Amino acid sequence: MVMYVRILGSEKVCNRVDLIDVALGAKPADVVIQSGSLVNVHTSEIYNADIAIKGGRIVAVGDVAYTVGNKTKIINAEGKYLIPGLIDAHLHFYHSYIGLTEFAKAILLHGTTTYADGFYGPAVVSGRKAIEFLRQELLKTPLKCIFLVPVLGYSQCREYSLSPTPTGLTAEEMVDMTRWDDCLGLEEPSPLPVIEKEHAHVKAYESILRSGKVITGHAIDLWSGYSITAGRQLTAYLVMGSLTDHECVSVEEAVEKARLGMRILARMGPGWAENIPELVKAITKRHIDPRCFAFCTDALPPDALAAGVAMDECIRVAIREGIEPIQAVQMATLNVAELFRVDEEIGSITPGRIADILFITDLQKFKISMVMANGEIVVNDGKFVVKMDKPKYPEWMYKTVQLKRPVKPEDFEIKAPKEKKEVLVRVMYYPTNSIIITEKRMVLSVKDGYVKPNIEEDVIKVAMVDRFGRGNVGNAFIQGLGLRKGAFGTTVNATQQNIIVAGTNSYDMAFVVNKLAEIGGGMLVAADGKELAVLELPLFGLLSDQSLEIFVHKNRRLFQELLKLGWKRPSTNALDWLGPASGTTRFRISDLGLLDTESRRIVDVVLQ
Ligand SMILES: [Fe+2]
Repeated sequence: MVMYVRILGSEKVCNRVDLIDVALGAKPADVVIQSGSLVNVHTSEIYNADIAIKGGRIVAVGDVAYTVGNKTKIINAEGKYLIPGLIDAHLHFYHSYIGLTEFAKAILLHGTTTYADGFYGPAVVSGRKAIEFLRQELLKTPLKCIFLVPVLGYSQCREYSLSPTPTGLTAEEMVDMTRWDDCLGLEEPSPLPVIEKEHAHVKAYESILRSGKVITGHAIDLWSGYSITAGRQLTAYLVMGSLTDHECVSVEEAVEKARLGMRILARMGPGWAENIPELVKAITKRHIDPRCFAFCTDALPPDALAAGVAMDECIRVAIREGIEPIQAVQMATLNVAELFRVDEEIGSITPGRIADILFITDLQKFKISMVMANGEIVVNDGKFVVKMDKPKYPEWMYKTVQLKRPVKPEDFEIKAPKEKKEVLVRVMYYPTNSIIITEKRMVLSVKDGYVKPNIEEDVIKVAMVDRFGRGNVGNAFIQGLGLRKGAFGTTVNATQQNIIVAGTNSYDMAFVVNKLAEIGGGMLVAADGKELAVLELPLFGLLSDQSLEIFVHKNRRLFQELLKLGWKRPSTNALDWLGPASGTTRFRISDLGLLDTESRRIVDVVLQ
């Protein structure tokens, strides 16, 4: 029986009252860790201290010999540094494309024992029942979650007048979740609805603030360095109580936001947003207090995860960039715990905290040899040593990709006046090594009243197809993918989770979309009406129900097939970022057509 649960997963450890007798010497500890060098993140010291553990919580630190009984398990930590389990301040598990149990294993291997998530991707597709299922799934793993209300599961770009999914979260459900005991805040509400005082957002803010919880921000593009308006919008976002930002890209932006009281979550999104080297200059060069900073990863592509990148890499990068190891550890532990107001539960190796402890062989190089979560060793020598059952996923999590009717090639045609031979069109320009899309104006030829792609110039078609049975198809042109043949589609994309397909011809595009619907979601590449490679993501159309290794293997095969067709993006997830989302990119593909996020209108692809 626990006294209370604030962190999802802390049910796994004992009641604090049970610690008292051990602390007083009246009862023995379950486990004692001896002879290690304790990294104290409160005082920034390293010294020898033993640790006594009872029921998954730390009871005593220092000379704990008095807690050793006949049955106490002794762990020898000689030659090891002992640091608190890492806490990822902002991470969406679904961006790793694997089930939550498999994901838990993958990040525990890298020392992350707690992470902040609201499960918004699955919530867009299946609403509250998805959240409830995932919360239960997490409880069967050693991982803990700082659960935040997935505001995006409700908002879904309503600010651009796009219709949210019929199965997403309702305003009432969002506000209801703010009151859950183990809900610790709001997950990155988009600034626009907040500063436009959208009713549901204001209610959620009010409810969260009243209960002393945290509003994590998403202040992309908001900073006076961009424009006077952006500076004022940032102030408006702040006066509502938004506390963090994981979207800072320059040291100046980080310094200004830290001065305004924001906690800067320096992001290390491997391969897509590696901001730590730039942002830590705020500490090393501008001498800003490191306590304003924490780390996050936001999205961990499976290749990176399999290659060994997670929060441990944030620490290694920061140390390489001149941050003191203890400070880097604080940014991945205590700073995050304090920020979410749960530092009496996690974030340090002190009495009463949950026994999440990493055994480190080399602090400078940050090599993890053992991971303890909730008082139990879960990783030893790079291997996961706890048995976790493969979950049985319910039927309703499958077959979520519903077309109103099978699509036809004509659905992907963009019309122009029949008498025209060529027309000026808007093209989404997707530069290599960036996810920021701008507009290009180009002349394309017209045949039989349809605008044709220009494969020589790498201008091909792109479309978003509604997958919630409503039948919408929005079309546009895109430059920068490299496909010279065939089509490639996915059912994963931030905020709306519709189908995005890009192709050189309408026949293959229709083939890909119909096939994706048939298999219940995934990524698929085809040419000449033939499937070349497929990666099934049958859970919500977003996640694999297989292991990380199988996913990585299939993903590599898919990538190879794409390369053969001319693909020039660095990974297979390049379509994920083309759909509507808040920030930076002005032109997005939506199921209603080409969206201009500045005017917030669907704009014509064909100009004249
Ligand atoms: Fe995010």
